[in-house]
Amino acid sequence: MDKTKKLFDEWAVTGRAEEMEKGHGVTVNKFLDSISFDKPFSFLDVGCGNGWIVRKIAQLPNCKKAVGIDKSKKMISVAISKQIYKKEKYTCTNLESWNYRGKFDVIFSMESLYYTVPMEPTLAKVFKMLKTGGFFYCGTYFYSDNHLTKRWKKVMKVPMDLRSKTEWKKMFNEAGFKTTTKQIKDTKHRAKWKREFGTLFVIGQKTC
Ligand SMILES: C[S@@+](CC[C@H](N)C(=O)[O-])C[C@H]1O[C@@H](n2cnc3c(N)ncnc32)[C@H](O)[C@@H]1O
Repeated sequence: MDKTKKLFDEWAVTGRAEEMEKGHGVTVNKFLDSISFDKPFSFLDVGCGNGWIVRKIAQLPNCKKAVGIDKSKKMISVAISKQIYKKEKYTCTNLESWNYRGKFDVIFSMESLYYTVPMEPTLAKVFKMLKTGGFFYCGTYFYSDNHLTKRWKKVMKVPMDLRSKTEWKKMFNEAGFKTTTKQIKDTKHRAKWKREFGTLFVIGQKTC
């Protein structure tokens, strides 16, 4: 039994998907708003939850297709129920076993990649699914430098792959990406881990 899938099926029907949308929104929106999507592009969100990021991106004129995948069937049902744009597409699958023939210009993932332990095979799949020149933007609160989030592993009771900022960067480099990082803080938030550390965005470009 996949404990992660079960957990997020529960979250989907108890309003936690919308809490994540609100909670993650501050730093994710700041990050996405700093990117210029100035050429036509295709977009994939891995672990899309209720689809809020897919919808945000689908409204951009240059977005040709915005796909969200999630291994929780109930998250995908919620995402479909909130669909606004024709460009939005949702599939219930885990990334590891997804049999999709196309490739994307941009792949995004917020608070999802570390639920596969270890992350390396999933990251290799992301690399494979990107077009040359494409970007993978991966956001996480859960990294060991953000020491107040380390306890989440015990609270969540599902497998979670904890790495430091340096290890995240090394893992991306070893997967073949040209890597940079960006940390975006939510300075007005009452939670210390959001104010002082915030979201670590690991940015990988597939250069060849
Ligand atoms: C913490 S939630 C984040 C949801 C969304 N990205 C957001 O920011 O609101 C993580 C989501 O990733 C999904 N997930 C975890 N591992 C996955 C995998 N290997 N493939 C697809 N989805 C996955 C979970 O089912 C869950 O809905």
